[in-house]
Amino acid sequence: MREPFQNEPFTDFSKADSINDFQEALRKVELELGQEYTLKIGSERIETIQKRKSINPSDVNQLVGIVSQADTALAHQAVLAAAEAFEDWKRVAPSARARVLYKAAALLRRRKHEFSAWLVYEAGKSWAEADGDTAEAIDFLEFYGREMERLAERQPLVAICGEDNELVYIPLGVGIIIPPWNFPLAILAGMTMAAVVAGNTVVLKPASATAVIAAKFAELLDEAGLPDGVVNFLPGAGSEVGDFLVEHPLTRFICFTGSREVGLRINEKASSVQQEQRWMKRVVAEMGGKDTIIVDADADLELAADAITASAFGYAGQKCSACSRAVVDELVYDEVIEKVVERTKQLKLGKASEQGTCVGPVIDERAYLSILKYIEVGRSEGTIVLGGKIGDSSGYFIEPTIIKDVDPYARVAQEEIFGPVLAFIRAEHFDEAIAIANNTEYGLTGAVISRNRSRLEQAREQFHVGNLYLNRKCTGALVGVHPFGGFNMSGTDSKAGGRDYLLLFTQAKVVSEKW
Ligand code: NAD
Ligand code: ALA
Repeated sequence: MREPFQNEPFTDFSKADSINDFQEALRKVELELGQEYTLKIGSERIETIQKRKSINPSDVNQLVGIVSQADTALAHQAVLAAAEAFEDWKRVAPSARARVLYKAAALLRRRKHEFSAWLVYEAGKSWAEADGDTAEAIDFLEFYGREMERLAERQPLVAICGEDNELVYIPLGVGIIIPPWNFPLAILAGMTMAAVVAGNTVVLKPASATAVIAAKFAELLDEAGLPDGVVNFLPGAGSEVGDFLVEHPLTRFICFTGSREVGLRINEKASSVQQEQRWMKRVVAEMGGKDTIIVDADADLELAADAITASAFGYAGQKCSACSRAVVDELVYDEVIEKVVERTKQLKLGKASEQGTCVGPVIDERAYLSILKYIEVGRSEGTIVLGGKIGDSSGYFIEPTIIKDVDPYARVAQEEIFGPVLAFIRAEHFDEAIAIANNTEYGLTGAVISRNRSRLEQAREQFHVGNLYLNRKCTGALVGVHPFGGFNMSGTDSKAGGRDYLLLFTQAKVVSEKW
């Protein structure tokens, strides 16, 4: 029997060996930058005339890779290839499908720093953030492999005399996998391989900003022995091929992680039935967040400041789980701000590849301009107490920015900024803090820092988010430990990395035989 699932350990970058190994991986990957990447449909690698350059957000003159771009004709071909491969893949034993995931996990583990180095160059992740992303990808592969083996054991049914009954989870068909750029390895691997291990075949359309990492993962699946056609790799503009893939009559389900705007569009398009379509399409959509940490009057303020700083500025605030609002009891409001400012000043802003960088660049020019606009909005909606300016012009650097005295309904308190911007909101008492925390249309993560047992219990019941953390940061969910997914406009609460997840990619068939 396979050993029980355990989370992949994070690399300890205080050790000289780890530093040397990581620097070596960075050097190796740097030599490989600028190469070309093709589509893969069935067994065919396809180079297109239209290509997209992927650049390093820490150094906009550095080319990470050049990626062929699909059009709708190729998207159609990819759906057909997936439909053809489904006829064989659905018959492969669940344990054999799981074995491909274990092999992919082993290969990824062997080349862990190399994959993390790609994340540093293409996604602008600091060493630790990149290492966390790679570790989470390994976790998803190991966890979903075991989950499929568990599901294959079948659900026990109540016995009745004279009948042999069984319930078996069978796959759905062709899925469209649409991941975001911010966890370009972990979320992509998790969404894709959960669908695949459940017996489905997919078209994987990666986020454009991080299509090279996606191509590297697709290559790894080939090495792990995944048959052709099971994952069809289809980079291309979401605006060009996205609607086509979602609307295709052979598409059986869509698994999306990204913005609220695109998620709602996909949900709407998927609900309209096309000619020759024989099913209702299933949509799994995990979307944005506007996440809050509440600090109670009697909280451990050092812990509160650590939790807020880490949650707000890890990966430059570009996590759906990031703390973008700190709602603090007025009795400790000034003290908490002072402590967070102190800590944030210690965070080194710089190129992601440099050792010791805590806050790297934001992903691209569009994000950069949008975040800077929000900082201007914040200037008129509160008082900037730290940051607010751009960093080195070689990349998309923005200083970690703290805005205080923000109204709970101000734009910077309501809209997802997705950058290193934190708003402080004052609350008169705990009930008001909870009401403020619940006042957005999102419901993804949140945290409460308090020593008061009854308030922690109150938060358990009243703080309406998919992932609530008490006395810790609101980022960094671990596979298997903190199944992850949000309420309301944060999505369909799919709980990635949990025991319910694979069911989203299956349908249960019950067979009753009289005997
Ligand atoms: P995005 O919505 O811009 O893009 C996500 C994906 O959708 C990309 O692959 C993109 O190419 C594709 N896309 C764009 N238009 C499309 C269309 N018309 N049809 C189909 N696909 C289309 O989001 P993003 O900028 O990549 O990611 C950031 C967002 O993701 C944030 O809102 C963040 O909160 C969210 N996110 C959520 C979670 C979660 O688990 N809830 C995790 C990570 C990121
Ligand atoms: N799963 C990621 C986190 O928890 C988004 O931070």
